[in-house]
Amino acid sequence: MTLRTKLQNIIILPDNSILMNTRIIAELCEQMIKEFYSANLYLSMSAWCQEAGLPGCANWMRVQYQEENEHALKFFDYIHSHGGKAVVSAIAAPPTEWKNIQEVFEATAKHEAEVTRCIHQLVKLSREENDYTTEIFLQWFVTEQVEEEENVRNILDQLKLAGENGYGLLLIDRDLATRTYTPTSTAE
Ligand code: FEO
Repeated sequence: MTLRTKLQNIIILPDNSILMNTRIIAELCEQMIKEFYSANLYLSMSAWCQEAGLPGCANWMRVQYQEENEHALKFFDYIHSHGGKAVVSAIAAPPTEWKNIQEVFEATAKHEAEVTRCIHQLVKLSREENDYTTEIFLQWFVTEQVEEEENVRNILDQLKLAGENGYGLLLIDRDLATRTYTPTSTAE
């Protein structure tokens, strides 16, 4: 028998302390799945870059994949540390083909803009539900999204400058090869 009881939209413990709003838990689970989708999308892009002879871009996308997995697990851990249970539902298959490297990064920029919109919606929901703890948790993602969107914009600007110039693309690829994955827990 569970020690937790559900009353309206909240989970309460026997001592009547409130754990978390179940509506918020459901939305956080949704976001966890979206982060796993993001991870798979970038791994798929990494495969495309590898095949296209762009190992630096492939490396950048692989690091992006690792970061997105970490984002998903942050949601997983937060849900569990606040009395909820993360529901791991189906993750849609990402695309596998793009016309060129510009299109890959344009799709990345578009995807990250959508993730930002979702995170902002979650912040709005946590305010509506007076869930200040979740609002604070989400602040990390609000800041992360600003950084992610800026990074992709910078790469797109460089790709536009390089245009059809193969040497320019080679330099960009070499630069993106230097990106390394640093887990947040050790970076903080
Ligand atoms: Fe987890 Fe790229 O946002």
